Amino acid sequence: MVEKMPILEFAKVALSFGDTAVLKEIDLVLESGKFYTLLGPSGSGKSTILKLISGQLQADAGQIFFEGQVINDVPAERRRVNTVFQNYSLFPNMNVFDNVAFGPRLKKMAEKDIQDKVREMLGLVKLSGFERREISELSGGQQQRVAIARALANDPEVLLLDEPLSALDYKLRKELQQELRNIQKRLGITFVFVTHDQEEALAMSDWIFVMHDGLIQQNGTPEDIYDEPINHFVADFIGETNIVPGIMKRDYLVHFVGKDFENVDAGMRPNERVEVVLRPEDLDLTDPANGKLVVTIQDQLFRGDYYEITAVDDDMNTWQVQATNPATVGARVGLTFDPEDIHIMRYNESEAAFDARLESYGEEEAEEALQAAQDGQSQSGGQG
Ligand SMILES: Nc1ncnc2c1ncn2[C@@H]1O[C@H](COP(=O)(O)OP(=O)(O)O)[C@@H](O)[C@H]1O
Ligand SMILES: [Mg+2]
Repeated sequence: MVEKMPILEFAKVALSFGDTAVLKEIDLVLESGKFYTLLGPSGSGKSTILKLISGQLQADAGQIFFEGQVINDVPAERRRVNTVFQNYSLFPNMNVFDNVAFGPRLKKMAEKDIQDKVREMLGLVKLSGFERREISELSGGQQQRVAIARALANDPEVLLLDEPLSALDYKLRKELQQELRNIQKRLGITFVFVTHDQEEALAMSDWIFVMHDGLIQQNGTPEDIYDEPINHFVADFIGETNIVPGIMKRDYLVHFVGKDFENVDAGMRPNERVEVVLRPEDLDLTDPANGKLVVTIQDQLFRGDYYEITAVDDDMNTWQVQATNPATVGARVGLTFDPEDIHIMRYNESEAAFDARLESYGEEEAEEALQAAQDGQSQSGGQG
């Protein structure tokens, strides 16, 4: 089988500033033509990764490959990569045309070709006819479109976007999310998009890397990350959620809040300590007799298309519920959910730690565990 060579790869890349390890051990594999997102809170190392790709920073350890070649020592100007920043960084004393033409002119492209290029790029970002405008005459959204056109006019193989939409208001951000996605598909080049906004990441990406603490906590499709968060950090960061401690008694049976519940997870050691995730949208309120748990309503907020209800159980765990009908604050109600809505995470474990633990089991055990997990998944898939 011939596998396509990744366009970009990090192998055990590390970087410290002084005593602070900003990137601890980063492994990334990016295939050509996909929309990737680095998602994480401020300070998690996202921009640092982009700067390593663009050549603005050098790694302390590890290797960075571009189409199979090590590029650690290749200077920034020789990398086929451009960056779009949050603050646009346009040339304020040049008009729109000259901003977009900047890269092609540096490359000494023929003036006729430059005109075609600029026209094509401005068409792509829906600014045809804006050639002669001054930057100061443009709105924030229009300036960001020019910045995207200027970056793409260099024909990068990889476009880096560092929180490009974070300075824009909600409506404009939604619009540009869709357009960026369309541009990426149309050009077929690789995008590496940085955001701290999980909704944005889920909406835009083919593949997400969730970062925290200088490590990639989890990587996968938006569905993987949302439905199967691998640890507490990811579950908490990705969405409003309920996480309670539990014990996986055996395959398909988990214990939490003093009771046993059937579920669809398997592959853990008997009585392994776990964290149980239940999404607010998967919980329903009912009368106490029909509830799997009984809770007391503490608070509720009307959110437009649902009520966000906060309740507390007798163990003092807090539960967030999204309900279509309002509840009564102070009332005792039942909480129900389906077995396939119970999601099990290994206790406080990163993806790297999980892999390491599987290795430490020895091969046979690891295979058994993986097989059991897969059997569990295919069973749950069959039910769903
Ligand atoms: N040039 C620098 N010198 C010292 N510390 C830095 C420098 N650049 C970034 N850092 C630190 O590295 C960490 C990661 O930064 P960054 O990659 O910019 O995070 P993010 O983009 O995820 O918000 C932060 O704690 C930041 O303060
Ligand atoms: Mg940043």
